[in-house]
Amino acid sequence: MSALLEVKDLEVTYRGGGRTVPAVRGVDLTLDAGQTLGLAGESGSGKSTLAMSLLRLLPAAAEVTGQVLYQGEDLLTAKWNRMRAVRWAEASVVFQGAMTALNPVHTIGDQLVEPILLHGRRAGEEGGRITDKQARARAGELLESVGVPARRMRSYPHEFSGGQRQRIMIAMALACRPNLIIADEPTTALDVMVQAQILDLLADRVREQGIGVIMISHDLSVLGQMCDRLAVMYAGELVESGPSRQLLDDPRHPYTRALSRAFPTIGDPASRRAPAGLPGDPPDPAALGAGCPFAARCPDAHEICQDTPARLVPAGPGRLSACLRVLPDFPHLSPDMTEPTAEGARS
Ligand SMILES: Nc1ncnc2c1ncn2[C@@H]1O[C@H](COP(=O)(O)OP(=O)(O)OP(=O)(O)O)[C@@H](O)[C@H]1O
Ligand SMILES: [Mg+2]
Repeated sequence: MSALLEVKDLEVTYRGGGRTVPAVRGVDLTLDAGQTLGLAGESGSGKSTLAMSLLRLLPAAAEVTGQVLYQGEDLLTAKWNRMRAVRWAEASVVFQGAMTALNPVHTIGDQLVEPILLHGRRAGEEGGRITDKQARARAGELLESVGVPARRMRSYPHEFSGGQRQRIMIAMALACRPNLIIADEPTTALDVMVQAQILDLLADRVREQGIGVIMISHDLSVLGQMCDRLAVMYAGELVESGPSRQLLDDPRHPYTRALSRAFPTIGDPASRRAPAGLPGDPPDPAALGAGCPFAARCPDAHEICQDTPARLVPAGPGRLSACLRVLPDFPHLSPDMTEPTAEGARS
C-alpha cells in the first residue's frame, strides 16, 4: 500500500526582481495515514514554501519540481479540476496567521458552510446533494467540536480572540473530513495555555479520524509534544529527521541541538533559564556555497564542512542526518562522501 503522502526531490525556486531564491532544495518526505510529522526550522528556512507547494498554492513566480505523491497520485502534474477536488476534501491547510486567512467581511458560519457545500457531495456519506440546512448543522457541530459555541456562527472574525480564531481555522480544515492536514504554525502568537489546548484538540481529531498531519513550527519542543516524527529544515534543506523522542533526546545534527536549546522543553526546569538563542543569521538562500549551509554558525564545524556537500545519511534506526560528523570516516572523507579515503580507512 502506498503512503498517504510521499514527497520526492522537491525543489521550489522563486524567480523575480532579478533574484533567484532556491527556497526548498531536494526534500524527500513520507507520511502515513494517522501519522503526525513535525517540520521545524528558523524563519526563512522554507517551511511555508514547502507546505504550500504540496497543494500548489504558491504564486506563479515559484517554480516547483519533483513529485508530491498523494495516495500514489502526483499532485504536481494533476489537472486543476482535480486539484480543486483535492483541496479541502482530501487535504486541507491551516494557514500561518488566522487573522489574515479568515475573510473579515463574512461571518464565520458562512465561511464554514462554503467548503462544506462545495465539497460535501464529494465526501460521499450524504448520499448526493447536501442542503444548506445540513451544511449549517454540520458547521455548528464542527464549531462545537473545537470548543466554540454553535450560536457564534453569525459572528465575524474580529469578534473572536486569537485562540478562538485559530480553533475556527482548525474547524474549517476538518470541515470536509480530509485525509491530510497541513498546519502551518497553528499556534504561534498564542499564549502557552491556549497553545497546548489547541494542539490537544488537533491531536484528538487526528487520533479519532486517522488523519495524517504535517505540523509546522519553529519550536521543536511544541512539535515534540504531538508529533510521531520530526524533520528539521535549514536553508531549504532537511538536515535531520527521525522519531520525535530520539531526535529531541539525542540530536544527530548540531543545528537540531541549537534549535532545541533556543526553545527549551516546556516543563523542563532548565527552560526557566533565558533561551540560549542561536547566534548568527541563517544564510541567504540566494547565495549558498557548496559546503554544509550550517557550517558558518556551527560550533562543531571542521575545515572540510565549508566545501564538502552534506547529504542526508542514515544516523540510527529510522533516523537521517546531514552532518558530515555522523559519517564513520569523518573528517577523512572522499569527494563523494561515501567511500573512505585511504587515510580514513586506516584510522
Ligand atoms: N513570494 C516569494 N517570493 C520570493 N521569495 C520568497 C517568497 N516567499 C518566500 N520567499 C523566500 O523563500 C524563503 C523561505 O520562506 P518561507 O516563508 O517558506 O520560510 P518559513 O520557514 O516559512 O519562515 P517563517 O518561519 O518566517 O514563516 C525565504 O528566503 C523567503 O524570503
Ligand atoms: Mg512560514
